Amino acid sequence: MQPNSARARDMAYVVHQHTDLHAFAQSGGTLIVGGDGIYVTDEDGKRYLEAMAGMWSASLGFSERRLAEAAYRQMQVLPYYHTFYAKGHMPSVDLAERLISLAPCVPGAEKLTKVLLGCSGSESNDLAIKLIWYYHNAIGKPRKKKIIGRQRGYHGATVATASLSGLPTMYNGFDLPMPLFLHADNPHYYRLHAPGESEEAFSQRMADNLEQLILREDPDTIAAFFAEPVQGGGGAIIPPARYFDCIQPVLKKYEILFLVDEVICGFGRTGNMWGCETYNLRPDLVTCGKALSASYQPISALLLTQKIHDAMVAQSAEKGSFAHGFTFAAHPVACAVALEALNIYEQDQTVAHVRQVAPVFQAALRALLDHPMVGDAGAVGLFGGVELMQSGALRVAFPPALKIGQRVQDECLRLGLIVRCIVDRIAFTPPLIITATQIGEMVGLFRQALDNVWAASAHECLGATA
Ligand SMILES: Cc1ncc(COP(=O)(O)O)c(C=O)c1O
Repeated sequence: MQPNSARARDMAYVVHQHTDLHAFAQSGGTLIVGGDGIYVTDEDGKRYLEAMAGMWSASLGFSERRLAEAAYRQMQVLPYYHTFYAKGHMPSVDLAERLISLAPCVPGAEKLTKVLLGCSGSESNDLAIKLIWYYHNAIGKPRKKKIIGRQRGYHGATVATASLSGLPTMYNGFDLPMPLFLHADNPHYYRLHAPGESEEAFSQRMADNLEQLILREDPDTIAAFFAEPVQGGGGAIIPPARYFDCIQPVLKKYEILFLVDEVICGFGRTGNMWGCETYNLRPDLVTCGKALSASYQPISALLLTQKIHDAMVAQSAEKGSFAHGFTFAAHPVACAVALEALNIYEQDQTVAHVRQVAPVFQAALRALLDHPMVGDAGAVGLFGGVELMQSGALRVAFPPALKIGQRVQDECLRLGLIVRCIVDRIAFTPPLIITATQIGEMVGLFRQALDNVWAASAHECLGATA
């Protein structure tokens, strides 16, 4: 099929990710050519406020010179080396040491003492699955192999991490999910609570259901539970009160490892350095990526407790080499940029800034509840979600055929605002450097988009039945 616009022809050589390939072939997409602060610019010179920080990730915006300079400095000294066969380089050593010193450690948690560097969140989560299997073989529990994720959880796009993710659209046509991956309930309180059920009671029900799942499957076969502190790709879903307080004892009771996926939440997004701190999480493994380098270089990390590492060393003593590695993992330029990003977070007190502007962001989103299309709106730190509903009070969704979320997303783009619709939930994760004034601009543009879509489609929406 031939693309029918100049823009589609420009972009046609690249297979675009998470894109309707058929529609794209007809109409093309948006080519971004530059960025400044929290804004990006397309090839026509149109400027957009990037309310998603790219892929929930460009925490320091799109024009941080200190990161570009760190990359250039490292390229001049040692542009590439690897960490295979007992070789290494200083940027990886410095970064691992720094990550360990920053690692989350809430009271009662085991310390995270070892780091494996990777190139993406998917890669680090995939590696974590491999290591969890390796670990259980090493400690003589080879039946512990099943991994539990959650419905609407997102952990990546590899064969294993897509299987672990609870998003059926990622299975369709790909022969996924693979066996050994299970999915616990989605803790989306607004949508799924029973009439009169409190957040705490809902959280307890989620934990009871998890325990039932574990018992049904046989606890001796369950290796690990993966969770994002706030579910991102599932729709910016903030956990209800006491959710993790109810879940964690169940994991402990059945000796199930807990991996906290901090790929979005890590480095300040929720108003603390880690989502673990915001929700009092005590993980055995942590993955992070995205904001680790403010997304200026592809880099991710898997952090482990000493207990897991000791078992790996014992297993390696028996089996020989730890036979895992990626050419670009721990790339020195990416490590140098990540180190500089961590310096900037410290020097500029980025987490304190998030805490300062978060109440403005939260209040602005909550104020949208008066809009006839909005059923739910809330945020933690600078991580927000707005749910579009035909009737918010009655919790009646728009009929999927109306594609309301997509219409709102498209209207936002037209107005110069980039947001992400996940069915009818709109996610906001702006760069962490956003100011209070810019938050006003962002939410103002969003309200304008809602008004425009409502004006154009209210009859259709009100006439439709869900
Ligand atoms: C929570 C979470 N985990 C893992 C990933 C995968 O990361 P990547 O796209 O870098 O592979 C993502 C990506 O959005 C994510 O949101």
